Amino acid sequence: MKILFYDTKKYDKDSFERALTEFDEIEINYLDADLSVDTAKLAVGYDAVCAFVSSDVGKDVIKALACAGVKLILMRCAGYNNVDLEAAKNNNITVMRVPGYSPEAVAEHAIALALAVDRHIHKGYIRVRENNFSLLGLTGINLFKKTAGIVGTGKIGAAMCKICQGFGMRVVAYDVYKNPELDFVEYVDFDTLLKESDLISLHCPLTNDNYHLINKETIEKMKDDVILINTSRGALINTSDLIEGIRSHKFFGVGLDVYEEEGPNVFENREDDIMQNSITARLLSFPNVIVTSHQGFLTEEALTSIGRTTLQNAVDFMNGTLQEINVVK
Ligand code: NAI
Repeated sequence: MKILFYDTKKYDKDSFERALTEFDEIEINYLDADLSVDTAKLAVGYDAVCAFVSSDVGKDVIKALACAGVKLILMRCAGYNNVDLEAAKNNNITVMRVPGYSPEAVAEHAIALALAVDRHIHKGYIRVRENNFSLLGLTGINLFKKTAGIVGTGKIGAAMCKICQGFGMRVVAYDVYKNPELDFVEYVDFDTLLKESDLISLHCPLTNDNYHLINKETIEKMKDDVILINTSRGALINTSDLIEGIRSHKFFGVGLDVYEEEGPNVFENREDDIMQNSITARLLSFPNVIVTSHQGFLTEEALTSIGRTTLQNAVDFMNGTLQEINVVK
């Protein structure tokens, strides 16, 4: 099985090369370039391509991959909202992913963002480096005995519920399905979660039904001084409405690992660029907002698990022994 690997970063190559030692039957070639209609043409002679959450796996790219003879798209991630599944089906291409490589990695990043904005760690760090040891403006809020509202209690949401329980918080959740593992969680309707939570953390996938789940109306229903965390997908939040909410002092803090329009930024060093997008620039200008660049997944354990499962997916495809849970339909 020959795999063409797109948008390779050093940490990707390191972890996949480690995983490859267990898979003799696989050969990988790594490209710096990400998938596009043009680069898809380079996949001639390859059985599969490996792409990430930020790759363009839309209709035209899939068509180009099919023309190149590709039969399998290996997503080295859990989310797949960037893949046109209908186009994949129509072009007879199987799409596989890594559903639960390390839920704790993302949940731990979510709580890291929550604690950072709550305790102003980003400001404290800079202040002390400048020999400014003043504490003015750094007062936080205890999470102990507060209410955490977790939206989506699948693998990552469940890990987040357990972390919040460990902090001594009351944990309420909203999900279409109740997770039977979480007997300490109170499932409530979405409006109740908005109304009662001091910390709201989003852990549901982006679907047609929940695009801009957080908007002007839902923000108005939240408690004043709420902390909002999104490590899921940017478009769950209407950024313009969020900015209005921040301007009207609704939020104690906002932590975003994902945001709308992150596409051109994700994993790129753009320090010499003049940023053209005023919405993102505006978001970055607020003192109570921390933005990271889709790094929730980035732990050693998660990368190892992603490498292994992605290559196992390739082997299973080759042997016709697909694990249904890893196939995206
Ligand atoms: P999962 O499939 O285990 O759980 C998702 C849960 O969300 C399910 O329980 C589902 O019933 C629920 N859900 C679906 N629609 C909902 C809605 N409208 N409202 C409330 N709940 C809803 O997925 P997992 O592994 O927990 O991942 C969640 C999301 O986290 C992924 O879809 C992805 O967008 C994001 N993610 C982010 C990463 C990062 O690096 N920041 C890395 C990995 C995933």
